[in-house]
Amino acid sequence: MYKILKAEKLADKIYLMDVHAPRVASHCEPGQFVIVKIDDKGERIPLTICDYDREAGTVTIVTQVVGASSEKITRMQAGEAFRDFTGPLGCASELIEEDMESLKKKKILFVAGGVGAAPVYPQVKWLHEHGVDADVIVGAKTKDMVILEDMMGKVAGNLYITTDDGTYGRSGMVTETVKYLVNEMGNQYDVCIAIGPMIMMKFVCLLTKEMGIPTIVSMNPIMVDGTGMCGACRLQVGDEIKFACVDGPEFDGHLVDFDQAMKRSQMYKSEEGRAMLKLQE
Ligand code: FES
Repeated sequence: MYKILKAEKLADKIYLMDVHAPRVASHCEPGQFVIVKIDDKGERIPLTICDYDREAGTVTIVTQVVGASSEKITRMQAGEAFRDFTGPLGCASELIEEDMESLKKKKILFVAGGVGAAPVYPQVKWLHEHGVDADVIVGAKTKDMVILEDMMGKVAGNLYITTDDGTYGRSGMVTETVKYLVNEMGNQYDVCIAIGPMIMMKFVCLLTKEMGIPTIVSMNPIMVDGTGMCGACRLQVGDEIKFACVDGPEFDGHLVDFDQAMKRSQMYKSEEGRAMLKLQE
């Protein structure tokens, strides 16, 4: 059993938990995910790792309520425990695999949308601890939906908060702030990492492609069981078919077919849709 040491509400329907899972904590790297199960009969839910403390043996996860199972997770309190906490799974972030000398010369921009701030945080923190301070944009619909601002502020080189409705920080979509940083501030980024809702990643990629900035995206949002078996996270990346949970979750954003991925994940939500997808495969 994997005990919850802390459970905290970050925003409406978004919760953070510190879970005692020493084996996962000792091996995990930024970009990876875990699969949790509440009890023997529970569904397997893939969740990205938001932080980890190897000495304390804890892993921090952030859950957004999107259905019955995720809602059950968010109702759990400190002192309760998960039946399973499997991981680390998926590939570590490409950035941390790079040669340190070339990484230190790079100007890096992270764009996080909504709950996407959770998988962005450990990457920014890792870079900061290795002497690389990245620029970070955290976007949310409204002021109340901005998460992890304090934590991110401590590890980001420059942090820009944006809200779609202008209730906090810069006003408008994250893409407006990308344009501001590049066109008005004259920043020349070597790479952009965008993680958030698929529609956000799509528009960030359209913009960075125009600007000539290589962009990595994380396809966490389309994962369902995280095992490589359900087929929900199948996606077209350039000429290849990939599975987000096995081959990713990170991919070259300029090669991902977002329209197809969004359509697929919509279809996957209904039984009829899943049957149709099976026929097509
Ligand atoms: Fe099911 Fe990847 S999430 S195959």
